[in-house]
Amino acid sequence: MPLSRRTFLSGLGSSLTLAACSQLPKFSLTSGNEEYDYILTAEPAPIELIPGTTTPAWCFNQGFPSPVIRAKQGKEVRILFRNRLPEATTIHWHGLRIPIEMDGVPFLSQPPIQPGEDFLYRFTPPDAGTFWYHPHVNSLVQLGKGLVGPIIVDEAEPVAFDADLPLMMKNWHINDDGSFAPFTSPRAAFRMGTPGAFESVNGIQNPSYPVRPGSLVRLRFLNVDNTVMYKVAIPDHQAWIIAIDGSPVAKPIPLEQHEMGPGMRLDVALIAPAESGATVSIKNAKGRLLFNMLELKTEGEPIAAARSITPLPVNPLPEPDLDNAETINFVFEWEGAVTPVNRDGKTNYKFWTMNRRAWEGMSADNIPEPLATLELGKTYIFRLKNVTPHSHPIHLHGFIWSVLRSNQKAFDLFHTDTVLLQKNEMVEVAFVADNPGHWMYHCHVIEHMKTGLMGYITVK
Ligand code: C2O
Ligand code: CU
Ligand code: CU
Repeated sequence: MPLSRRTFLSGLGSSLTLAACSQLPKFSLTSGNEEYDYILTAEPAPIELIPGTTTPAWCFNQGFPSPVIRAKQGKEVRILFRNRLPEATTIHWHGLRIPIEMDGVPFLSQPPIQPGEDFLYRFTPPDAGTFWYHPHVNSLVQLGKGLVGPIIVDEAEPVAFDADLPLMMKNWHINDDGSFAPFTSPRAAFRMGTPGAFESVNGIQNPSYPVRPGSLVRLRFLNVDNTVMYKVAIPDHQAWIIAIDGSPVAKPIPLEQHEMGPGMRLDVALIAPAESGATVSIKNAKGRLLFNMLELKTEGEPIAAARSITPLPVNPLPEPDLDNAETINFVFEWEGAVTPVNRDGKTNYKFWTMNRRAWEGMSADNIPEPLATLELGKTYIFRLKNVTPHSHPIHLHGFIWSVLRSNQKAFDLFHTDTVLLQKNEMVEVAFVADNPGHWMYHCHVIEHMKTGLMGYITVK
């Protein structure tokens, strides 16, 4: 009987009665002299997504949703990771600017963690915000089967919300009987990928979360899906974007529709209706139609004090020196008719290229050349050109970009670790190459990254 959903919900429930951020259980262990803040175990675990069925998922700590890891900005967090899967893995901390040794990419930053092995991840997150964690090995299957979770870095100076809800959006690739359906097909990998049939937020279809009347609510949307783009909208209630992909925006932006590709996050603040029994419906826009994704329902004691929406404190990103920046072009292309490399049933299709190169994979004795080598401390502008007719959420590990401009839309400068390139869009992003190492650089549509759209950048 999968219990963790219940545990998670009661965790959320208890947070709603607190005036500050939710307190989720920490797993502490004393082994020898060392104490860990968290123990995170990846292992096969049956879960119940469709009522009455069993899905043979791969989970963190026995169920879904995965534990919310909470760290504090500027404070070290230690996570003892235990691989109890039948295959090797690693854990990557998406969006965190941490040392390369902790980045969780096999061969580039650490040897793969073999079944039965443990690895201690420890790092001090410099930035507060909504981030997430996932393996970087056999990603189609490992993420597809459920190995995705939120890591939330609380602001050094606490910011007060009455409720703080992590919302993991994922379409599961399952059949009506709960069994897994294929995660990919060549035909779909060549286009926008293979969407799962079971849409969920935190593993539940259209969940409803209680919030107190008049409360200040922080919603943390995380697109942890392999493939699907979500367009978040709250049409009947005023809400504001307060952070994009973990990074606070200078001034809260009224939420209309915000598109999120795989890997992207969005923090939204709103004040719940003052009366009890009211609902706020949160939608996913597909074309011109709006579909229910989840709802908030007011119940319990109203919040007496007046609440207001204020900007989050800024993160300490290094300021790019645009006057002395070097510009590097990256062109994302698709290749018409590529034949499979082999016929052994493994996906060896290469459909996508970055600067004319398709990622060939990596092993201990075959590490391809980087796509670019950057000088430590220097500012770079990446000019990202998508010349394919598909969208690509392009992600660089270890850094946070300033998004300068697009040839398709106007916006105020914002920061991100994953920029969504629409078809034929050109976007320029700037950053200071202040973190030495070999940093993965890829599309976060997992089928795209698995069929070529991946590489890495060296900073030294
Ligand atoms: Cu979510 Cu290579 O990253
Ligand atoms: Cu990442
Ligand atoms: Cu892509």
